Amino acid sequence: MTHTITLIPGDGIGHEVCRAVLRMVESAGTATGTGFVWEEFQAGAEAHQRFGKYIPDELVESIERTRVALKGPVATPIGGGFSSINVALRKRFELFANFRPIHNLPGLPTRYPDVDLIIVRENTEGQYSGIEHEVVPGVVESLKIITEKASTRIARFAFEYARRHGRHKIHAIHKANIMKMSDGLFLRCARNVSREYPEIVYGEHIVDNTCMQLVMNPYQYDMLLLENLYGDIISDLCAAFVGGLGLVPGANLGHDSAIFEAVHGSAPDIAGKNIANPTALLQSAILMLRHLQEGAMADRLHAALESVYRAKQHLTRDVGGQASTSEFADAVIAELELTNTQPLC
Ligand code: NAI
Repeated sequence: MTHTITLIPGDGIGHEVCRAVLRMVESAGTATGTGFVWEEFQAGAEAHQRFGKYIPDELVESIERTRVALKGPVATPIGGGFSSINVALRKRFELFANFRPIHNLPGLPTRYPDVDLIIVRENTEGQYSGIEHEVVPGVVESLKIITEKASTRIARFAFEYARRHGRHKIHAIHKANIMKMSDGLFLRCARNVSREYPEIVYGEHIVDNTCMQLVMNPYQYDMLLLENLYGDIISDLCAAFVGGLGLVPGANLGHDSAIFEAVHGSAPDIAGKNIANPTALLQSAILMLRHLQEGAMADRLHAALESVYRAKQHLTRDVGGQASTSEFADAVIAELELTNTQPLC
């Protein structure tokens, strides 16, 4: 079986972690006889310099064809410049669900052990869309769009996921005490959907309290359902529970396309040094393999990743080791080569 996948290496550490992840994925594929064709495109500032467009037409056409992409982080200028490529791609392909599982890796001491938390973030609207304009000099308006359709759709996604995967509790996170209409609508939709899933406990917490509750005791939550901006912020907070942004994967899912990308950004402070942790993108690729029905390959990669963490010999600096990005990838590949000789079960 050969899969054709759109690849967007992105900016900053994107190139380094993408190269490492491609090597690990291809090594895992050799055992299962699975091949990959990567259709590679740039997006963002580099694409604009070379092709005059932030999102080249060829990239859009590629995702229309492949329906699945692996993406590195794309930098978005602060306080001006072009709009987020990530937001544009999520909207263009209606990737309405941002799915971010937060789990510990074995052998890695973190702030909290045994975290098992699923974040489901609405991905297409809310304030995160960046719909802003200057009313008069010195006055800017930023619009928060919340619709019944998108709120119901993301709530249903969360509850369906919970039902299918045996999760027991969902908290909708909001600020409906202040944003009574927008967050109020989000909550009403979540509440309505929750009634169709009586086996799943449904709760509601205000977002500021949620931050405190998470830091005090993350185990009280099972799944968090959030609108776009709260989901963005709380994902980074939760990443810290399990060792930081170098570890946490993500998936942008729609009805007919999916883009898999880590939670982290382009990390300009460490870019080009071959020290970034490729684990988050590798875990995103593992989610991608499951989406492609390559469960055995995903399991092998995950087992190899866990072995490297358990052994603690080849970890990157963000998690207390000394290995480079490529040395970490070599260690995972060495583990894979050990198991590649064993039969698939
Ligand atoms: P960031 O996630 O790039 O970095 C935050 C901190 O985490 C930095 O200290 C960085 O060194 C560290 N870090 C991140 N990923 C790491 C990894 N794999 N290994 C080791 N350390 C890692 O967030 P920041 O600095 O706020 O954003 C930088 C740029 O990335 C911005 O232009 C932003 O717009 C963009 N960004 C893009 C995302 C995407 O494409 N999905 C997501 C988040 C940010």
